[in-house]
Formats: sequence, C-alpha cells, structure tokens
Amino acid sequence: MKKLNIGYTKTCSCEDNHINCLSAKEWLKGMVTIQEFFYEKRDIRDKTIHPAMYPIALPAHFIRLLTHEGELVLDPFVGAGSTLVAAQDLGRNAVGFDLQQKYVDLSMSRLTQSRLTRKTKQIAIADDAHNISKYLEKNSVALSITSPPYPQFLTHKRKNKSIRGNLRDNGHLHTVQQYSDDPRDLGLMAHDEYAKSLTEIYRGILPLMKPKAHCIVNVNDLWQDNKRYTTHAYVINALTKAGFEFRNTFIWDKRNLVNKVGIFGWPNNFISLGTTMEYILDFWRPVD
Ligand SMILES: C[S@@+](CC[C@H](N)C(=O)[O-])C[C@H]1O[C@@H](n2cnc3c(N)ncnc32)[C@H](O)[C@@H]1O
Repeated sequence: MKKLNIGYTKTCSCEDNHINCLSAKEWLKGMVTIQEFFYEKRDIRDKTIHPAMYPIALPAHFIRLLTHEGELVLDPFVGAGSTLVAAQDLGRNAVGFDLQQKYVDLSMSRLTQSRLTRKTKQIAIADDAHNISKYLEKNSVALSITSPPYPQFLTHKRKNKSIRGNLRDNGHLHTVQQYSDDPRDLGLMAHDEYAKSLTEIYRGILPLMKPKAHCIVNVNDLWQDNKRYTTHAYVINALTKAGFEFRNTFIWDKRNLVNKVGIFGWPNNFISLGTTMEYILDFWRPVD
C-alpha cells in the first residue's frame, strides 16, 4: 500500500538540535509538572457526540513543547479530533486514526481552515490503530499524543458518583456510553487483553517515530465496584514492552473543571477524588 502523502520535516528556522520553537521562558513554563488546561468554545462537551474528549489546549501544550512547525503529529485514537485541531492551529501536520467512521467525520468537520490555503495537512482515517504502520513512513513522526480508550469502562452504566446531589441525574445517569460494538474496540476489552493490544499497537508505532521522538498518553485510574484499576500502570507496562522508554509524568490538575463534586467515601471509605487529576505519561523512542 502507498504511504500517506503528508509532510513531516520541520519548516521553521530553529536550530536542528532544538526540541521545539519555544523561548527559554516558554519552555520553563511548559515544564512545570502540574498543568491546568481550559476548555474553550470550540471544544465539544456533549457526551452524546463523543463520550470522552480532552480539551484542545492539552495536545496544543505538548505539540508546542515537543515538535517544530511542519513536523508530523500522530494520534492513534483520535476520537473527536482535538489533536488535529491543535495541530492545525500550530502549523503541524497530523494524522489520527479511529475505528468509527462517525468520529473520523466529526474530526474532519472540526478542521476549519480551508484545505487550499493550509500549508499543513490534518487527516483522520477510519481504521484500527493496529494498522497505522501501513500508512506512515518509518522515522517520520515527531510526536504521538492521545487519550486512549479505557478497558471495559464505558460498558458500565454511569453512576455519576463524582457529581453532587440531584445534579447527578444529568441525563447520562445509568446510561452506557461505549464507543461501539466492534470487537477491535479497546474500550470493550478486559484489562489483560487491553494491555496486550496496546503493546501491539505501540510496537507498530515505534519504528514510525523519529529517534528520541516523544509519545504522550493522557490517562486516569478508575474506580469500579469499590476497586481501583491502575490504568496508568497498564499503559506504562504496555508501552515499555513495546520498546518505548518512560521519561516523565505530568499531572493534569482538573480542579478548575470539577467544582461540583460529590463527597466520595465520607466518613468511612478512604477514596481519593480521582476526578480532580489525570496522568499525562511521557515516553520516547530510545536511540537504537
Ligand atoms: C478517549 S477517545 C479519544 C478522544 C480524543 N482524544 C478527543 O479528545 O477527541 C478513544 C477513541 O479510541 C477509539 N478506538 C477504540 N479502539 C480503537 C482501535 N482499535 N483503533 C482505533 N481507534 C480505536 C474509540 O472509537 C474512541 O473514539
């Protein structure tokens, strides 16, 4: 199969050995481990359109830190296309994959700049993330960034435990918001099968990355049936097995987004308010 016609070389005039186009001051701000991100008007907050989206500001932050203009960003689980929108804003090429044609269409519809005037391309493709290597050249991707599906999470009926009192019945209570019934959907898999699939997918992505190119995964742990599922640990293990090296952890401080939280556990069950933060795990492709 012919590879995708998409640019991946830097078009800015920064030094070749610089990781990004930022000044020292901007770099310093970006390296603070705990970061807040704000949703803006263009972000979609309606869970009936897509059940799980990060704000455009999140991928934008890491695209600025870890790529140059003109380079190529990959999102293996593109969902509603927030990564593609951020890449378009910042003049980076980007390609995203999703099993669902409806999410690919949604992603493409959010790209506002005319294709004719754009210097860079952003493309969403309807395919299984296992097949990404069919589309991209080796050593071409400068950054992979995503929020992946969660194992068997969306197959559960929502209990909205993190929402206070009568606000809990917000139209989503007791609904099941899975992405699809497709057996290749990682959101339907049990934890072990999920970890295996994630390893296979990222093993395929590794050679497509430039050496020392970064790979960011935004993920949170889950509480289900009074048990903690350390999804972030599954992700670290899966990507390490795939050949990536774990480099940094950032914390997404979500306190600005969850001011109406219910009280978890009081007074006898010690459960942290997981909804107030998420992990942002940073890996890279080590030099061979
Ligand atoms: C958490 S969402 C991504 C959200 C995205 N970061 C955003 O902000 O819009 C995960 C996506 O992974 C997709 N998905 C699940 N299994 C997949 C697979 N095997 N290959 C490609 N996409 C898959 C789902 O359809 C879902 O849209």
